[in-house]
Amino acid sequence: SGSADLVIVANRLPVDRVTDADGGPGWRRSPGGLVSALEPVMRANDGAWLGWPGGTETDLEPFVEDGLQLVPIGLTAEEVEEHYEGFSNGTLWPLYHDVVAKPEFHREWWDSYVAVNRRFAERAAEVASEGATVWVQDYQMQLVPQMLRELRPDLRIGFYLHIPFPPAELFQQLPWRRQLLEGLLGADLVGFQLPGAAQNFVRLVRQRVGHKTHRDMVYLPDGRTVKAAAFPISIDVDSFAELASSPAVEARAAEIREALGNPSKVFLGIDRLDYTKGIYARLRAYSELVRDGHLDVDDAVFVQVATPSRERVEQYRILRDDIDRLVGRINGDLGRIGRPAISYLHSSYPREEMAALYRAADVMVVTPFRDGMNLVAKEYVACRLDESGALVLSEFAGAAEELKQAWLVNPYDINGMKQALLEAHRAPEKELTRRMRAMRKCVAEHDVTQWASDFLEELAATRPEHGKVV
Ligand code: G6P
Repeated sequence: SGSADLVIVANRLPVDRVTDADGGPGWRRSPGGLVSALEPVMRANDGAWLGWPGGTETDLEPFVEDGLQLVPIGLTAEEVEEHYEGFSNGTLWPLYHDVVAKPEFHREWWDSYVAVNRRFAERAAEVASEGATVWVQDYQMQLVPQMLRELRPDLRIGFYLHIPFPPAELFQQLPWRRQLLEGLLGADLVGFQLPGAAQNFVRLVRQRVGHKTHRDMVYLPDGRTVKAAAFPISIDVDSFAELASSPAVEARAAEIREALGNPSKVFLGIDRLDYTKGIYARLRAYSELVRDGHLDVDDAVFVQVATPSRERVEQYRILRDDIDRLVGRINGDLGRIGRPAISYLHSSYPREEMAALYRAADVMVVTPFRDGMNLVAKEYVACRLDESGALVLSEFAGAAEELKQAWLVNPYDINGMKQALLEAHRAPEKELTRRMRAMRKCVAEHDVTQWASDFLEELAATRPEHGKVV
């Protein structure tokens, strides 16, 4: 066995292989909520992080980057296509997000998913010390817990799903439903964003695998137990607050508003360019408010940042074209010289720029059709140090269970969204403060460090007689 006492296994490393401006190899922070949440946890725990570095390089050695111990696992071009773009993002992602897009079922994709999960499990088995804790992350890795347990019964194994776990009616469609459930049952503790997801899982295990269950516990025939519970994820609140309060970010926020022509209202959306995020519907709702004269382009602008994501998957290409066309049409119809209705950016930005955007925005608009948590909503709240600003939030984001003082909307209801955007826009300062204060309190009380320690403590308690405690 290896030397790491805490091992994170995720499909992706926190950094992504890129080519620098001078043509040499470099690293860039990976996109998405998983990396934002786990990075601070890893810094605090000194663990090893196993994952794919992006691309198709296969001969990378373990290395230390910015203080993190990283163990790259290469994927071949075929595996990128079948495991990552295929089964993970063409089958599981849409199925787990309430079939916002149609999931595809292909047997070759499944075979590749199994093979890649096995390679991750084998590598984790090499790296983990005797009795170590291995924490497996997300939907791309659901078979790793069981595979790893077979290789290393001495380990304490946790699994956390960052995205929603679907209702049984949808999960049942998977030709490999039983294998996926058994894969997860290799863990001692299976964590979800919301209690409903944990309940879905336990019910499926009872119905499909036939194990005995009681409340949040599964009893396996060999005497082992598996616990399923909710651990709503969060952000590094202090580091965001610190960033937002820095003079550089404050100055940049003012610069952004200036560059936008000093409108009295800035609306903001920041999302990975993903069909689950509801970007299209949200921009339509906003544009109708401009068209109907409720908002004026001289006075208000919608800044939409769309971070490039999964660009080789067809659904994502179609979405990008649709949004390009919609933004073009809206600005063509409603904009004036130097005054677009929507300022659209297809790019990813460092945290400093995000914090400046959050500070510059009066109304943050987060309207996914389905989202495990949505950390952008929490980041916005954490950056509103003066308790100003409004949040319009989808009922179907996990964050809606905590941020109850947001303007909650059904993203399928365009008129309802228009109404909420207007109310948020017109709300008196006192009301904004009341709502933001309550949301800031909630976010401050549930920091990501707390999330990780809640999970790891619960994991340590599952088999107290066994293994080291991290
Ligand atoms: C979501 C998923 C993560 C994923 C991230 C970025 O947050 O839960 O597992 O890493 O999106 O997506 P990508 O496909 O680029 O890894």
